[in-house]
Amino acid sequence: MDTFHSLSRKASFISLLLSLHLLCAIHSAAFNVETVTFNKGFSHLFGEGNTIRSADDKTVQLHLNQYTGSGFKSSDLYNYGFFSAKIKLPAEYTAGIVVAFYMTNGDVFQKTHDELDFEFLGNIRGKRWRFQTNMYGNGSTSRGREERYYLWFDPSKEFHRYSILWTTNIILFYIDDVPIREIVRNDAMGADFPSKPMGLYATIWDASDWATSGGKYKVNYKYAPFVAQFTDLALHGCPADPLQEVVNSDCAAREDGQLASDDYASITPKQRNAMKRFRGKYMYYSYCYDTIRYPVPPSECVVDLAIRQRFKDTGRLKFDEKHHRHFKKRGEVMNTRNNRNQENV
Ligand SMILES: *[C@@H]1O[C@H](CO)[C@@H](O)[C@H](O)[C@H]1NC(C)=O
Repeated sequence: MDTFHSLSRKASFISLLLSLHLLCAIHSAAFNVETVTFNKGFSHLFGEGNTIRSADDKTVQLHLNQYTGSGFKSSDLYNYGFFSAKIKLPAEYTAGIVVAFYMTNGDVFQKTHDELDFEFLGNIRGKRWRFQTNMYGNGSTSRGREERYYLWFDPSKEFHRYSILWTTNIILFYIDDVPIREIVRNDAMGADFPSKPMGLYATIWDASDWATSGGKYKVNYKYAPFVAQFTDLALHGCPADPLQEVVNSDCAAREDGQLASDDYASITPKQRNAMKRFRGKYMYYSYCYDTIRYPVPPSECVVDLAIRQRFKDTGRLKFDEKHHRHFKKRGEVMNTRNNRNQENV
């Protein structure tokens, strides 16, 4: 037993050393992604006056000021596909701000909606942005499947590509070409796996009441406007009419072929290693390790023993490492608009 533990400690130390190196090596390579102009693929959602498009219509700035946030959405809904944008987040003091990049069909299916999210949570000066991913299927909002992470870079310095691959069997969240989360469909999930047409959305908004340390730090409009930039948007999927359940079959065949050949459609062993390392090092919450909420992890969870060691039985991070201490002191609350039951963590 002891030998096993010291071996595994050694192994995790070595993998820690390797992880930074690997993440850097890997994320320098970029996907080859066909992009679309705003006018071709998108329309305004809210705060139109706070949406500023570049002359070539490939870049959109979403502003948040004391009057309103802003947002846009894809003009069509899609049944499966690859959805992506390069995003640069606001710098400086960003407490209380949320930038979201997500897919949903909530306005069509109010009670049975599907959703896949990236949500970036602003922070006080000097503290890192954090982000979370989530999935809902067929209105399963009581089963939050959220994970929360730190980034391995400063997202306000440069553009990075954030992508969602959504097929009939797999969901992959990517940052640049590092897959950070994979959900493989299984029968036990039933309709919890999103399967109705969804649109792609991007928003910036004031979430002062929960985004940073459970609402302790509000948006400070002295630093307004807060600007999130989106560029090189990709919408690879077949437009679908949500009420007809018919997908243009020519398009579907073409997209299937395209998805099969694109470099984001399958993960190389190297990428799988990078995913494992990202999750081992930067993930600080996952519902799959939260035994208070889920005494038995939901069926899609693939429990990684090395990751489980980092969490207490409660699924909360162990704070026994020196560099984690200040997070504990801050009493961080990782709350989301969909997950208020986490409020008193
Ligand atoms: C989705 O949810 C609705 C309402 O709860 C239910 O009637 C329906 O059967 C579900 N769909 C599937 C495919 O399970």
